[in-house]
Amino acid sequence: STHEENYTYEMIQQTANYLSQRVPFEPKIGIICGSGLGSLAQQLKQPIEFPYSTIPNFPVSTVEGHAGKLIFGFLSNVPVVCMQGRFHFYEGYPLWKCAMPVRVMKLMGVCQLIATNAAGGLHKNYKVGDIMLVKDHINMMGFAGNNPLQGPNEERFGPRFPPMNKAYDKELIQRGIEIGKELGLKDNIHTGVYTCLGGPNFETVAELRALKMLGCDAVGMSTVHEVITARHCDMNVLAFSLITNECILEYDSQSEPNHEEVMDAAKMREELLQKFVAKIIDYINKS
Ligand code: 6GU
Repeated sequence: STHEENYTYEMIQQTANYLSQRVPFEPKIGIICGSGLGSLAQQLKQPIEFPYSTIPNFPVSTVEGHAGKLIFGFLSNVPVVCMQGRFHFYEGYPLWKCAMPVRVMKLMGVCQLIATNAAGGLHKNYKVGDIMLVKDHINMMGFAGNNPLQGPNEERFGPRFPPMNKAYDKELIQRGIEIGKELGLKDNIHTGVYTCLGGPNFETVAELRALKMLGCDAVGMSTVHEVITARHCDMNVLAFSLITNECILEYDSQSEPNHEEVMDAAKMREELLQKFVAKIIDYINKS
């Protein structure tokens, strides 16, 4: 089984120490940049970058050209750490490996996670370019018996059986809606339920109809295992999806989802998302 060689607490600590010794400030907020949202990380002031391949114990990237890096710096004058590029289950990593950077952030002093992703919109009102603040998730991979917390529990991170009914901070969701409206989003900002599938293929029509019936509003291939890992170690969490395509729920539809439309939609919203995250960080810092 896949959890037999999980990281020890000491390995995570070693990684955190390596980074802390090279960064002259303590990050307060961790940001995970989703597909096409990496430009968020380019906004950091006084950036210090660590390609994943140079960080001790970090997962080794198998996908050429998608090597990713950890960037420390300041956003709205707040010390933050950004993951530019994340680890996905479909790349072949077990979930505990995908979520390992969250634990590194925790040991560096991060108490707030902002997880972002590109997602397909299932809710009929969602349009391309909309933002959905995640109010809850359905852990489909968990239903199938896969979870980042499987294996012996590390009590220094958190409890064996962590609650997940208050995973997403209500106040930040509320403030997120207000900020969205301030930025002119009007009917283009929502709260909804996110679900993560393993990928890498997009879903069948029957799968999407089933997910919709189950109460999912947006579907992607990330975030849930990171949020579970963050909540396990008592980090506060805000997550949002950029809706990059509308899920195809009809058999006679002529279109097919593809990675290009996902990246195009992200590009279209690049500036707005930068402002959105900056304002949220400003709020977190002042509250
Ligand atoms: Cl339609 N499905 C999944 N699983 N992930 C996506 C998506 C759809 N659109 C963007 N990301």
